[in-house]
Amino acid sequence: MSKKWQITVPGSTANLGPGFDSIGLSLNLYLDLTVSLADQWEITHVSDHLPQDIVIEEHLIYTIARETAARFNKELPPCRVVMRSELPFARGLGSSAAAIVAAIELANLVCDLQLTTQDKLNISSQIEGHPDNASASVLGGLTISQMDEQGIVDTIPVTDLDASFVVFIPKVELKTSEARKVLPEQFERGYAVRASANANMLAASLIAKDYVRIGRYMESDLFHEPFRSALIPNFDEIHRVAKEAGAYGTALSGAGPTVISIIPPAIGNQFVLTMKKYFPKHEIILTKADHQGISVQVLNDVPA
Ligand code: HSE
Repeated sequence: MSKKWQITVPGSTANLGPGFDSIGLSLNLYLDLTVSLADQWEITHVSDHLPQDIVIEEHLIYTIARETAARFNKELPPCRVVMRSELPFARGLGSSAAAIVAAIELANLVCDLQLTTQDKLNISSQIEGHPDNASASVLGGLTISQMDEQGIVDTIPVTDLDASFVVFIPKVELKTSEARKVLPEQFERGYAVRASANANMLAASLIAKDYVRIGRYMESDLFHEPFRSALIPNFDEIHRVAKEAGAYGTALSGAGPTVISIIPPAIGNQFVLTMKKYFPKHEIILTKADHQGISVQVLNDVPA
């Protein structure tokens, strides 16, 4: 008999405007791995969102799981992995962070690494390079995080946001690495002060659950959106039409190209219907925050 696990990880949106590389929010769109020990490595994709040409040695799940095991001087045993995903690749919904978090958990389970939640936050954020998406995928909910120069993550969760989120996913991909190339290396001091004040006010508004201000400060980013907006289909129109239809505010989801609006839950279905009329080329999905973060289910033992 051998063990089988199901690892479920929520995707996420990052930044919410000026919370650049710091604020993350997990969404109820999931990546799911079914893992069992095997004689040789096998990874199968069973979702339209995932490519079918799989090279095991280059697969993020394999490379990150092996790297995680190696950090603890363990060798990763071969596994059979079935991967399902509701997260489109390279669209700003945290698909890479979710895969990294899932792969760390895979190594944790099959190598019995006994990782703590803090270990998972640190390792996933170090690999991602910033803690926003990874912290939200590990913990669930809204997270405000900082990673120090040693790669140690400090996170404060903000619970019970009474809001829904609508994602506008265009057909085009935009890799985070490309979207980071357009950002300036430095800001002049007065500009940095304004950018930082907007980020502080966003964080304070989230903690105060002041939804009108959350929306206002989500739309006040100076760190990245002014430089990325030209890469994003319908960036200005979505902001304008969403506001007219009742959104509190709209921002880039992570590095884009997805755009996300925060809305009162009561208007969710009508808001989505209206947006679909205006933006027929986008996939538009009504989402909520996920409140669990990563979860593992041990499935019944199966004959080896
Ligand atoms: N904070 C990151 C960025 C999120 O905006 O580049 C995407 O990984």
